[in-house]
Amino acid sequence: MDRLRIRGGGRLAGVVRVGGAKNAALPAMAASILTAAPLRLRNLPEVADVHTMQHLLEHIGASCTLNGSACEIAFEDCRSTEAPYEMVKKMRASVLVLGPLLARFRRARVSLPGGCAIGDRPINLHLEGLARMGAQIEIEHGYVNACCDALRGASIFFETVTVTGTENLLMAAALAEGRTELHNCAREPEVVDLAVLLRKMGADIDGEGTETIVVRGVRELKAAEHDVIPDRIEAGTYIAAAAITGGDVTIERCRPDHLDAVTALLEATGAGIERGQTSIRVKGGGPLLSHDIHTAPYPHFPTDMQAQFMALMTQATGLSIITEEIFNNRFMHVQEFCRMGADIHVAERRAVVRGPTKLSGASVMATDLRASAGLILAAIVADGETTIDRVYHLDRGYEHMEQKLSALGAHIERIK
Ligand code: EPU
Repeated sequence: MDRLRIRGGGRLAGVVRVGGAKNAALPAMAASILTAAPLRLRNLPEVADVHTMQHLLEHIGASCTLNGSACEIAFEDCRSTEAPYEMVKKMRASVLVLGPLLARFRRARVSLPGGCAIGDRPINLHLEGLARMGAQIEIEHGYVNACCDALRGASIFFETVTVTGTENLLMAAALAEGRTELHNCAREPEVVDLAVLLRKMGADIDGEGTETIVVRGVRELKAAEHDVIPDRIEAGTYIAAAAITGGDVTIERCRPDHLDAVTALLEATGAGIERGQTSIRVKGGGPLLSHDIHTAPYPHFPTDMQAQFMALMTQATGLSIITEEIFNNRFMHVQEFCRMGADIHVAERRAVVRGPTKLSGASVMATDLRASAGLILAAIVADGETTIDRVYHLDRGYEHMEQKLSALGAHIERIK
């Protein structure tokens, strides 16, 4: 298993380019199931999850040519309607094949995702929505078995805002008979990007980016080409990396409008931000002030940035109360930060960070994808050397992170 070795100290400076959004790429790839015509996707991130989705699609019948950040997927016929446990346990987003398989092939068998390092992550809202559209759903031997004669449009209210739940239902509704209304939808840019792609494929969709999405089902969808949006979480991670080192970093090829909650918070801590059309420059170096953080669905502060900003708050002066509203167990990184010298106390969904603390290098373990990024930021400012274990979490969703950070001046290397 690979590890990262990081020597702390120094400011980051220079330019970093953001890749495509993992969480927009995965649903875009799953959307290929909805049509026999080819889908050409560009700006996919070069990360492990994209390969996992490729293998899953190939397993169920796609021919998928992935070439760097471009991919062509043709899903002429279905070889299997099963997403097996081995694939789903690697990547929960595998559940995104459920809606499209049901909509086009009228059956699907998808392993239940099971436990997760960041909290309970049920898929009941995906299943309830599909059931309202006419699917018969049974859970048997750890699998969701779903079938239908046809999916019919329905009015569906999500009790909790769910990103992949909204995406699954959006894809199912695109080929369902009649009109579907989805209420209390996720408004994340990744959901909007999926709707834009589906519309290019011929779907009739209105309201993406708002709480209510209306879909009028069509009989079939067609070929399309699409550029996946830039990864706002990757961009946000480099924003936090620049600020924590008091550096001067320009993050290019990003969408500043997708990062308003992140940049607003950063400005409140005292860092300077300059927004361009497709870039953000972060100028740190002044005193960092603590700030409370609440994670919540978009457009609020993303849970996927919580660990990285917790690292930042260990270097800010004062108390910061970080409230995790989305997942009920997303503080696994706290113990690792504390091993590096951070002063953080957790009570239920709140973490209280007292800063600034001098961090010192240690051997730590990544517990999930975003926790890995948080630990890297802590290591970059820590005194001495840190080794981070279980880097495979990082590889699932960050493209060439060591290279990108090294180019900004970080001392980071991978130990095979
Ligand atoms: N929830 C339910 N029932 C459901 C679905 C969700 O109770 O049927 C609850 C969850 O337990 C959670 C909340 O709703 O408390 C929100 O979960 P959501 O469904 O929105 O999460 P997700 O779709 O599984 C996506 C991202 C995550 C990101 C979350 C929140 C993808 C592939 N994954 O997950 O990304 O944290 O939305 O924004 O889009 C990551 O990239 O590191 C990552 C974990």
